[in-house]
Amino acid sequence: MSLNFNPIERRDKVIKSTDFDALSSKLSCFNKNYFSNDPNNDSSLFKSYIDQLKINLPLLASNNSLFKSFGNSKFSIQRLLNSNLNENLIKNKFPLINRGTYIRTKLLDILIQNFLISNNYENCQIISLGAGSDLRFLNLIKNFSSSSPHKIIHNFKYIELEFKESTFIKSFIYLSNPTFRDLIFNSSNFDSSLQYNTNYNINNINLSTFNIDTIQTNNYLLYPIDLRDKNQFTQFIQYLKNSTTIKINFNHPTLIFSELSTCYMSSTDSNVLLQSFQSAFPNGIISLYEPISLNDRFGEMMSNNLLKRKIFISTLNDYPTLLSQIDRFQSQITHFNKILSSDMLFIYNNWLTSNEKLRLSRLEFLDELEEWNLLASHYCLIVGTYGHSSLINTDFINQIQSLKWQIIH
Ligand SMILES: C[S@@+](CC[C@H](N)C(=O)[O-])C[C@H]1O[C@@H](n2cnc3c(N)ncnc32)[C@H](O)[C@@H]1O
Repeated sequence: MSLNFNPIERRDKVIKSTDFDALSSKLSCFNKNYFSNDPNNDSSLFKSYIDQLKINLPLLASNNSLFKSFGNSKFSIQRLLNSNLNENLIKNKFPLINRGTYIRTKLLDILIQNFLISNNYENCQIISLGAGSDLRFLNLIKNFSSSSPHKIIHNFKYIELEFKESTFIKSFIYLSNPTFRDLIFNSSNFDSSLQYNTNYNINNINLSTFNIDTIQTNNYLLYPIDLRDKNQFTQFIQYLKNSTTIKINFNHPTLIFSELSTCYMSSTDSNVLLQSFQSAFPNGIISLYEPISLNDRFGEMMSNNLLKRKIFISTLNDYPTLLSQIDRFQSQITHFNKILSSDMLFIYNNWLTSNEKLRLSRLEFLDELEEWNLLASHYCLIVGTYGHSSLINTDFINQIQSLKWQIIH
């Protein structure tokens, strides 16, 4: 069966499929041992996720709502995932792509760790925009429970927001795997008792009748949303206000981050979204990891390559440099007390120890040093803090200022 799609649906299909690009890049990094002995990126968790996905591909492909969202035939999602998870193709990923994926993952891990430390692991709320198949939440709880001494996190909340097709796949993988289920529902490192919606029997998951796209516990929420849609955002905030399970405190320090996701929205949509988050969570940190074009030939090439896939990244044009991203935070989103920003090249050079750089250079020989410099200077991390909480304005700022930054405003 083949379906017809209008240009907007076609574009959204490609945007949704970028989650599988990210997954495939991470798989390549795991295969090449980039994350070896990294407690924030546990390889057994990642491999279990990929295995569970592969085993269930035929079933996922037969799910009506999924195949309509990812392709134009029943086999599209199967083809899409097969090509993204194909070990032979993954073997050939360029070393500089692996290094880029690794650094991007690390820099956000570092930011999150700094946020947790500066809040003394208490009352921290994290919201991941366009979380895709990111396994950070599982890694965090596994890491906390295996740490010595065993860490108790008081009032920790982690929310993942994504298109419903992706939250459906993730819900299925999480709920159908005992290790993931245990981490999510039975983790002993939380001080609150965990609950979940008992409308379904998690011991007997059947994909043909599976229709869950939301997971909620006292500490975790996986929630389906199109982040461009203001009504859906309002419904999400209402959902949080009504929830007697996750019990979000809107005044607690909240880290809201996007790892290559808000860049797929129009600049206006992403700025409005971030303003809405600021209104809903008055004490927070907004952090974006995005490509920047630098208005040069490499940036133009990036843009053209994306256009060939029908992906238009408006922020590449609208905020092409670190300075323009800072200006965006100041004039379009506003209310920030402090804005810090660096490109990935600066972060690679300044945040990684020489031992770590040596380890990376031994993992894979990178002869295209010039290309690495170009690629790495075309991605940036920007972090803005706002609100009155001293935990953010003093403690968090002190904590992250100990890292080097290219621009501090
Ligand atoms: C390149 S992937 C990155 C996924 C994840 N952040 C990571 O780094 O592994 C971009 C993600 O953003 C999500 N996304 C983009 N626009 C979105 C929107 N309007 N609403 C919800 N999710 C969106 C896509 O579905 C996709 O999963």
